[in-house]
Amino acid sequence: MIKKDGLYYPTEEFKKKAWVSSPEIYKEAKKNPIKFWEKLAEELFWFKKWKKAFQHAPPFFEWFSGGQINITSNIFEKNKLGWEKIKEKPAIIWVPEPVEEQERILSYENLFKQVCQLANALKKLGVKRGDRVGIYLPMIPETIISMLACARIGAVHVVVFSAFSPQALRIRLQITEAKILITADGYYRRGKIINLKSNADEGIKETNVEKVIVVKRAGNEVNWDFEKNYWWHEIVENEAEFIEPEIMEAEDLLFILATSGSTGIPKACVHVCGGYTIQAYWTGRLIFDFHPEDILWCTSDFGWITGHTYACYSPLLNGITTLIYEGAPDWPIPERWAQILEKNKVTIFYTAPTAIRMFEKYGAELLEIYKFENLRLLGSVGEPIDESAWLWYFKNVGKERCPIVDTWWQTETGGILITSLPGIGPFKPAFVGLPFPGVRAEILDEKGRICPPEKEGNLVILPPFAPGLFRGIYKDPEKYLKTYWSQYGKKVYFTSDAAYRDKNGLIRIIGRVDDAIKVAGHRITTGELEAAVNSHPEITESAVIGIPDEIKGEVPVVFAVYHGQKSAEEVKKEVVDKINQTIGPIALPKEVYLVEDLPKTRSGKIMRRVLRKLFTREDLGDLSTLANPECVEKIKEKIQKGLRKS
Ligand code: PRX
Repeated sequence: MIKKDGLYYPTEEFKKKAWVSSPEIYKEAKKNPIKFWEKLAEELFWFKKWKKAFQHAPPFFEWFSGGQINITSNIFEKNKLGWEKIKEKPAIIWVPEPVEEQERILSYENLFKQVCQLANALKKLGVKRGDRVGIYLPMIPETIISMLACARIGAVHVVVFSAFSPQALRIRLQITEAKILITADGYYRRGKIINLKSNADEGIKETNVEKVIVVKRAGNEVNWDFEKNYWWHEIVENEAEFIEPEIMEAEDLLFILATSGSTGIPKACVHVCGGYTIQAYWTGRLIFDFHPEDILWCTSDFGWITGHTYACYSPLLNGITTLIYEGAPDWPIPERWAQILEKNKVTIFYTAPTAIRMFEKYGAELLEIYKFENLRLLGSVGEPIDESAWLWYFKNVGKERCPIVDTWWQTETGGILITSLPGIGPFKPAFVGLPFPGVRAEILDEKGRICPPEKEGNLVILPPFAPGLFRGIYKDPEKYLKTYWSQYGKKVYFTSDAAYRDKNGLIRIIGRVDDAIKVAGHRITTGELEAAVNSHPEITESAVIGIPDEIKGEVPVVFAVYHGQKSAEEVKKEVVDKINQTIGPIALPKEVYLVEDLPKTRSGKIMRRVLRKLFTREDLGDLSTLANPECVEKIKEKIQKGLRKS
């Protein structure tokens, strides 16, 4: 890349090969964003063209209404690159965690057959168009096969992160009313086999799930319910290798993906067939500059939106190869990820700042033998990347050659909305850059006025939004309205992120303004953590805050008011167990403090801000507005005692 005045630009060589290298695209999109998206949509395969591109009855909106599509037809038989050209090439490279196990490569043709066989089997098991199918699977090809099989027959997939606890699985199955669940016997993680089936058995209790399909992955022993359980390999064995695609309306549901809500009830985000397909295809093509020979490794788990869009749908729609890896990137050696990149000739690497900081901590010396000659583009996602991690990534992985697309988006947006395009730039460390063409992003102050450069405000998206933006919270229009469309009226999508623009118009994301925290890039809310802690019978109330962490970005810290007789150590362990049971290991707190009281305003509101400042060493400000300022000093002592101990 070329550096000029603190900004980075692609080289002439990169520009020559890139799909877009002229800023004209921004002008064209700005003139008429609806027309712009329509033109993009026309390049995909529709059974029937839409009647109206964009319709808006705030806060509700539709894209491509009247159009009929199936995302799997666009991946397989109607792929834009031509089916004959792609059918023999690798669609998936799967890297198992145990080093002694071979990679598995699935060609497009092989993947298509397996998708159709499972689709036929699902139909036989009674799955109909519109039914919700839970998918609780690790990073194995069967997860992609399951998602695509659902999409093929018009069923709505609900993928649940495999490291979520049974209780977290249960609530997701309950709110989406899933009838069937696809899971596995187990999978490898850091050398151990995790028994996923036993979690699934626990998680389906008190749900409508009648049937469970089980992939044999790790060969571990599992409990078997002969009435309800079906081995994957048995049900697909004799199924036909083709099934006609279900003809879906553009606004029919494609999938539901839950993101954490404030009270322990997740928000079930609804994504639809038409708009999502267009956005997944085009953001991949223009942001990652997908070319037919590319091999992408997007490290996100399928349980998150990044895994949905950029480990599954977008690369496959673009006819390229997606690499998926079962295990931890630093297992069994710290640079396992570098070996994977090199061995498989990965050309595009997309990961989260937490992973980059972890690689950095292991030391650049480990990477000296890796040239990463095939890499041509890097991506970052999920949390703000600070300048030093950006530069480390740029130098040691991208070898100062690869552009870095720092991509901002959310579970709700379905695809990337803000990042500079690799063939155009500019790139600036710690800034996500410019909105994608056709996306109108603004930064507003409390009164709804546009913030001048350098002034922080709320990041919002204005109509016509983007086709992939979610259409609602499943069966909860009120929450949808209140969470996203009430701060600045029903026509403005409120992202819950604070941001500012620099004088070049590049956007920097500061972080969430709601109670969500990003722990290693995973989005959890302090509200749901508090609900878990408060379920302890002897804890009367609690406050959870996110504090800065060198590697994970943020980590939760718990303050709990405890009134029982047990020892502090015992209670702390119980609190950790509660969180593990309710959410899973990703949400475990760094510390649990048992306190007598929490700082509150006179009206009884807990002042989490004050607690946070005790860690960031900021000035605590005027405490006289608190009803109980004396408790702050006591908490401070407790924290300091803890710090001295460690
Ligand atoms: O705060 C922003 C942060 O992640 C949030 C969305 O989280 P989730 O729905 O889990 O989706 C993550 C992956 C798309 C956003 O509201 N975020 C996402 N990308 C970035 C980011 N913060 C800073 N820089 C980013 N590139």
